[in-house]
Amino acid sequence: MPTHNGERVVLLPGDGIGPEVAEQARRVLELLVPEIEIEERLIGAAAIRATGTPFPPETRDACVRATAVLKGPVGDPEFDAADVRPEQGLLALRAALDTYANLRPAVAGDVDLLIVRELVGGLYFGARGVRDDGTVYDTCEYHPRQVERIVRRAFRLAQTRHGRLTSVDKANVLDTSRLWRRIVDDLAPEYPDVAVEHLLVDNAAMQLATNPEQFDVIVTENMFGDILSDLAAAVTGGLGLAPSASLSDGGPGLFEPVHGSAPDIAGRGVANPAAMLRSTAMLLEHGLGRLEEASALSCAVDLALVSTPTVDLGGTATTDELGAAIREQLVVDGLAASPYRGGDAARA
Ligand code: NAD
Ligand code: IPM
Ligand code: MN
Repeated sequence: MPTHNGERVVLLPGDGIGPEVAEQARRVLELLVPEIEIEERLIGAAAIRATGTPFPPETRDACVRATAVLKGPVGDPEFDAADVRPEQGLLALRAALDTYANLRPAVAGDVDLLIVRELVGGLYFGARGVRDDGTVYDTCEYHPRQVERIVRRAFRLAQTRHGRLTSVDKANVLDTSRLWRRIVDDLAPEYPDVAVEHLLVDNAAMQLATNPEQFDVIVTENMFGDILSDLAAAVTGGLGLAPSASLSDGGPGLFEPVHGSAPDIAGRGVANPAAMLRSTAMLLEHGLGRLEEASALSCAVDLALVSTPTVDLGGTATTDELGAAIREQLVVDGLAASPYRGGDAARA
């Protein structure tokens, strides 16, 4: 039996294709870090069906005490018009962990960009309601502290990359965007090695679609980041490939693919598990500090995608087949840990 050293990954399979790709992540973790305990919990539609709420207290307790949280997508058309919806569970989870810094890399060919999306503020969390006259409203709100911490995070990330930061906003219309832009400009002198530019979000979308190679780090608010990250995924191979890491200051990180529960293909075993497994690699790196295992898994995913492409990539491989090819690659590389082998000796 593997022993574990108190480190615990909470696995939230979620809905739709979530359990299908989460199963592949579990198998990879069991192979790469068998000493780490994996605790599975409910979130989203699965949790609503079992408990009436999308983020049950048991799930919350497990997540806040976890070393890191690995999550499949949530969402189910059955609940789209309901008062209690799966996505509310995801927002509550992000808020509970205060994972304000959502890192969404998009890499392919000459494109190597990182979207740094603010994740616990803005329209998703502002005041909302219905006025007496029937008007429905959502409110975009940002406190300067919320902006400062995400912008600082993005500057620091740009310093570790190519030293270029693009701040995306709608400062020609929105006061929250003007606050955002002022804070970026105020902080810029503290990071003299980073070149800063501002882009309006509509132009940013056009630039991402037509010339994504120009970007290094993009920092933006919650809603803009949501939309631009699907676009960045689309220009670098599709949603089946796009991972994310959501980080707080010191608490457990949350790792999940950019894509949703894909109800159109759920249950058929054809979902691409690469986004989930790349999120697992980000968990190994940022959540567990296992840099060697993280880079082994990233490389294994890259290689297996070439030999064993899934249906979304024009191939024929199933979720299981790509998962198996990735695990095989890890074993070939000698990086798959095993309770029967010592780490260094096994790699020699
Ligand atoms: P989606 O991302 O689920 O699907 C968009 C398209 O991409 C679909 O055609 C789907 O088949 C395809 N796709 C997505 N992931 C894929 C994968 N791994 N392999 C192959 N093809 C893949 O977006 P949607 O249909 O707009 O949303 C469905 C549900 O997912 C909604 O309920 C939404 O709220 C939810 N959602 C959840 C998350 C999350 O939990 N983080 C993210 C996005 C959407
Ligand atoms: C994402 C998703 C979520 C978001 C939804 C499901 C709440 O689209 O993670 O990109 O908008 O943040
Ligand atoms: Mn999204």
